[in-house]
Amino acid sequence: MREEEYRVLIVDDDPEMCQLLSDVLRGEGFSVTSLDDSLEASKVLKKEEFDVIITDLKMRGIKGLDLLEEAGKTAPLTPVIIITAFGTIESAIKAMKMGAYDYITKPFQMDELLLIVKKALENRLLKRDVVRLKKEVESRYQFHQLIGKSPSMQKVYDLIERISDTSSNVLITGESGTGKELVAKAIHYNGIRKEAPFIAVNCAAIPETLLESELFGYKKGAFTDAKTDKKGLIFEAHEGTLFLDEITEMPLTLQAKLLRVIEGKEVRPLGDTHSYPVDVRVISASNRDVRSLIQQGRFREDLYYRLKVIDIELPPLRERREDIPLLGRHFIDRFNRELRKNISGISEEALRCLLNYSWPGNVRELENVIQRAITLSQHGVILPEDLPVFVVQEGEEDLVERALREKYTIEQLERDYIRRVLTEVGGNKSRAAEILGLDRKTLYRKLQET
Ligand SMILES: Nc1ncnc2c1ncn2[C@@H]1O[C@H](COP(=O)(O)OP(=O)(O)OP(=O)(O)O)[C@@H](O)[C@H]1O
Ligand SMILES: [Mg+2]
Repeated sequence: MREEEYRVLIVDDDPEMCQLLSDVLRGEGFSVTSLDDSLEASKVLKKEEFDVIITDLKMRGIKGLDLLEEAGKTAPLTPVIIITAFGTIESAIKAMKMGAYDYITKPFQMDELLLIVKKALENRLLKRDVVRLKKEVESRYQFHQLIGKSPSMQKVYDLIERISDTSSNVLITGESGTGKELVAKAIHYNGIRKEAPFIAVNCAAIPETLLESELFGYKKGAFTDAKTDKKGLIFEAHEGTLFLDEITEMPLTLQAKLLRVIEGKEVRPLGDTHSYPVDVRVISASNRDVRSLIQQGRFREDLYYRLKVIDIELPPLRERREDIPLLGRHFIDRFNRELRKNISGISEEALRCLLNYSWPGNVRELENVIQRAITLSQHGVILPEDLPVFVVQEGEEDLVERALREKYTIEQLERDYIRRVLTEVGGNKSRAAEILGLDRKTLYRKLQET
């Protein structure tokens, strides 16, 4: 311990005692502030931070117990040592109950006091470390609702942090269930627009004609059912964020209209002769390969560039397996609460299954698997028997190892290997054929045989 850095506050209305304690502690290398006026001490406590506080209980002005209470509020991590006169042990006990670190009865040996001070300091450093570590863990492994410590997720957090206070449009791509909507919300709620609305529209879920009137709004009489004026969702998102989910499902005619909104920053409701200014940040999301849709003429290239001023690609869960235990823990805590269960964790064997499985449905699939396991579990922990069969079979063990143990024929091994590769690439048969070194026809034939 390098005492010279540590600061001790001594409060005692007996100036001689103050002097004595200061001399001893300074002799040990502490930096000491000693005050014989407890009122003054209370003021100093609000302004300065100490590593240890030593205070008498019985004083004129503010009493030791009140000072203790104040210290508990302004410096909860600083240990307080109480000095009490012989015969007032009850008040010392009361002080301990209120959170004092320790007490010492007058008269005492200086060695005795020094020992307590040093122990108190160690205790404080330990507590401070715990708080610091906890903060570090929270900030590194979690960002808003997003969980993940993998380098690729850390990059996503960094990017969100950097773009939140801008109004640039963002395109988020990634397989189904990778957290695109969560990222969109994190961008909105982390940035300057957070007080304004976040309006989410799923372009795949709303029929074409409805989507147009929902987004742009309409004037009374614009069409048969338009009985009154209606404000469009783009206006609802004014000064906030418009989240267009599954943007590739937007019909080409609407894509053209959206492009005009983004370029002109104004909206013309259906049946209206005027356009009205609007200020929105557009965040869009897609789980499809937008480039190939552009090539097929199903998505406008000019709109694409307007939407992806910033692009965020969310990696599939199988490419960041180190996040699985953390996500598992997060979902266990959540479903314990929701389902009023008390599952403590995942058995080693079950965790191995989760780590080896390919997760074609990504985080959403993991979420469902954990929910199901918590519902089914009859033991305190999640066991392989609580997991779906396909997760266990696939994640169970090394394929070659199992083949050896169960004496597989080449055909059996081939069949399982093909299945594994297929799940690995999320069911994409062309990609699987490429990995397997087969042409697509042969792959189809082999799949049919199995
Ligand atoms: N990093 C993460 N941390 C915690 N929960 C996550 C994470 N990623 C996804 N989830 C959870 O997984 C589920 C799916 O996430 P979300 O709806 O954001 O995915 P998506 O990419 O929009 O999927 P889809 O393409 O199918 O719409 C949600 O319940 C979400 O809370
Ligand atoms: Mg989504």
